[in-house]
Amino acid sequence: MEAMIESFSGIPAGANQSPHTLTIRFDAEVDRVVIIDQTRLPHECVEVELKTSADACHAISSMQVRGAPLIGVTAAFGVYLGLRGKDDETARSLSASVIEALAATRPTAINLRWALDKIETRLARCEKNLAEIALQAALELHAEDINACAMLGEYGAQRLQEIWEAKGERAAQAGLPAPESLNVLTHCNAGALATVDWGTALAVIYKAQARAIPLHVWVDETRPRNQGASLTCWELGQRGVPHTLIVDNAGGHLMQHGLIDCCVVGSDRTTLLGDVCNKIGTYLKALAAADNGIPFYVALPVSSIDFSLREGLTEIPIEERAAEEVSHISGLDDEGRVSRVQLAPTGTAVSNYGFDVTPARLVSGLITERGIIDADEAALTKLRDSIA
Ligand code: MRU
Repeated sequence: MEAMIESFSGIPAGANQSPHTLTIRFDAEVDRVVIIDQTRLPHECVEVELKTSADACHAISSMQVRGAPLIGVTAAFGVYLGLRGKDDETARSLSASVIEALAATRPTAINLRWALDKIETRLARCEKNLAEIALQAALELHAEDINACAMLGEYGAQRLQEIWEAKGERAAQAGLPAPESLNVLTHCNAGALATVDWGTALAVIYKAQARAIPLHVWVDETRPRNQGASLTCWELGQRGVPHTLIVDNAGGHLMQHGLIDCCVVGSDRTTLLGDVCNKIGTYLKALAAADNGIPFYVALPVSSIDFSLREGLTEIPIEERAAEEVSHISGLDDEGRVSRVQLAPTGTAVSNYGFDVTPARLVSGLITERGIIDADEAALTKLRDSIA
């Protein structure tokens, strides 16, 4: 059973920020909200400005920004952009429709609704300077996300250290040479690109790397949008973490052959009973991990927990996305140009569910900024009550 770990107390202000470009930033001097356009990664890293709340809606629905925590923070800035330059009376009358449009951009990640609820509550309490209040709230959520991810990364790194030491001890007891690396499998992109900075699953990796644990990451390509191949490989490469890209179906085979020591994934929405909704294919990895006795951890900020839902399978709305994401694929051609090609015969029927639910019984623990807890009702209720 997992125990709640005592909070880290001593990370100095500013120490949580990694030296990489943030996925979203506010440039106060020129009043600009700027994002990395993730649809252009890994071939180009380009920043674009969000000028209006419609730009923020477009950025989320077109997946220029994606990943549960980043979607929430972008929506928060979207509210500011919708109210910017408006007098308080106009801002008050506009705020509900601005929030409604942002809330409708993507259905599965709870961080979107969570962030919008926070801003809505803040606006409801204030009489004037509404745009300023919305900006302040967005900046606070931005800073909180960085801190939460850095903190959960520390807790997760401690767990990886224990798994690494246990691996060394097992090898020594069996008279085998010391192991060369700790092999971690991850799915989709739950990295710095999915948050403001650090990431969730990959925060655990970055913090473990800082402890000099010799890591190697197996990266699921994560069809159909290939966030593993394009985003996770890009950011692991930027940070010098050894990694290998695999097809989505390879994980079970690697587990059967002792090539994976641990799985760490993110979550778009986790329920009170500990059911974990994450990118499609996560469930199959959890099943294979359970069959092979491999720990399966989910790293997530508390903002990704939907305490209002008990059970995941029937209660979480699962996004269905365009057929073209499955029937077509884009990448660099031999001339180095980004191009798109069709994979399936014209007219093929396509189903494209974006997420699945891993039942709590398959989850070894939830790595949060409040510590590592069991994926069960008792631990999640205790966590909920501690932050109420
Ligand atoms: O469709 P995406 O790219 O937004 O999906 C992202 C994921 O599923 C991540 O694993 C999840 O948001 C957790 S990331 C911190």
